[in-house]
Amino acid sequence: MINRQSLQTISRNLSTLHKATKNVASASSVVFVNKRQQVALPLNSNHKFFSTSLKSMDQGHYSIPDGNSIFFAPSQNAIGVNSVEQLGGFVNNLGCKKILVVTDKPLVQIGIVAQVTKVLEKAGISFVIFDNVQPNPTVSNVNEGLKIMQKESCDGIVSIGGGSVHDCAKGIGLVKGNGGKIEDYEGLDKSKKPICPYVAVNTTAGTAAELTRFSIITNEVTRVKMAIVDKNITPTLSLNDPVLMMKQPPFLTACTGLDALTHAIEAYVSTAANPITDACALMAIELIGEHLSKAVANGSDIYAREKMCYAQFLAGLAFNNASLGYVHAIAHQLGGYYNLPHGFCNAILLPSVMKFNIPAHAKKLARVAKTLGVKNVDNMSDYDAAYEAVKAVCKLRELVGIPSGLNGEKIVKREDFDVLADHALKDVCGFTNPRVATKKDIIAILEESYKGL
Ligand SMILES: NC(=O)c1ccc[n+]([C@@H]2O[C@H](COP(=O)([O-])OP(=O)(O)OC[C@H]3O[C@@H](n4cnc5c(N)ncnc54)[C@H](O)[C@@H]3O)[C@@H](O)[C@H]2O)c1
Ligand SMILES: [Fe+2]
Repeated sequence: MINRQSLQTISRNLSTLHKATKNVASASSVVFVNKRQQVALPLNSNHKFFSTSLKSMDQGHYSIPDGNSIFFAPSQNAIGVNSVEQLGGFVNNLGCKKILVVTDKPLVQIGIVAQVTKVLEKAGISFVIFDNVQPNPTVSNVNEGLKIMQKESCDGIVSIGGGSVHDCAKGIGLVKGNGGKIEDYEGLDKSKKPICPYVAVNTTAGTAAELTRFSIITNEVTRVKMAIVDKNITPTLSLNDPVLMMKQPPFLTACTGLDALTHAIEAYVSTAANPITDACALMAIELIGEHLSKAVANGSDIYAREKMCYAQFLAGLAFNNASLGYVHAIAHQLGGYYNLPHGFCNAILLPSVMKFNIPAHAKKLARVAKTLGVKNVDNMSDYDAAYEAVKAVCKLRELVGIPSGLNGEKIVKREDFDVLADHALKDVCGFTNPRVATKKDIIAILEESYKGL
């Protein structure tokens, strides 16, 4: 029966939905709306990220009141051997006058940047190179790139590199388009305007930063990695060509591959997971279980490299929409404080956080075990099978040559764990972890990961 009150409710819901879709349309081409209740949020003040209130929706949070979901992704994504050859056409279509190429020095030195810029040259594209991005990119890196972009009057960006390069490029675009300073954008959807056309050419597999709305920038003063989550930094186009990834040494391949596994597992058990992100996460886990060790063992195995491109991309789609958990919330602190590689930190923390999450999501973690190829999982209880998932991740980590504990890193001091735990609890990535942790829990995870699981 329709009465005035129900009409008002329908109209209010439609207007909220309309606003949400309008916000998203500029950044992504895919908007999925489903009516299922999406998030079971603990009543904890930390968990504001996917808040379900109308008010929070108006502020730009992502859960529509009755639990609908919105899917974020770049509008075009090229993946596969020699896909870089298509770059000239893609960039020309953006209609920019001059492109800022953002990259890092090692990639210039080993010739990967030239492999890409020669395609731009062939297409007659005018560009200038900024190559001073460092791993775990900093506020200064963003500021330096921004200065060059302004001085050279660039109106588009192409990033060539791994997560550090893409994140720095996103930071440059964000401040160029919206003013202020990069620190103003820490948190969720702080920007008002879309950034300039932006193409991300990926060289690691990977962070998936070439497709996400995340940018992780280290504040050198506080030694904290700021998590910027903003729909406006979603790249216009992403490109993953395994040919550009062949020169990754085994340690980098292993770290970045385990970063992708962490994305998939954290997104799969996230409180904001939905059937679309689950499908992406599971396929990513299966591909990584099958192909990561091959890519580490033989860097020239182009087939394994290509499968890892797909795997990390799928994992990226999953976490770009379901977000992450405590592995990333804690890894950001280790990376920011000690400048350790991001994938390395994740690889060490992942088993401990999975173990911590078993009481909240045994069934899903049991499925992770099965997807990683653990035998006889169907004959076990969900809890036993979930433990098998933890063991399977430890085994894969060992197989690809990553140590089990942080204690091999002289720079890491246990007396820092207190302050690291404080910061980790504030990191936006932890807000969708399926089990809510206290500071004591985070310190216990750090202690366990220090000794090694
Ligand atoms: N924005 C996101 O969604 C997101 C997600 C996860 C991680 N991150 C961030 O990404 C950063 C880590 O990125 P990363 O792991 O891709 O590494 P990276 O970009 O920091 O690169 C590490 C090193 O590998 C080199 N390298 C890159 N590609 C190579 C190749 N093909 N061959 C040889 N060497 C190569 C680089 O020159 C650099 O010296 C961290 O700062 C992390 O916080 C971002
Ligand atoms: Fe990551």
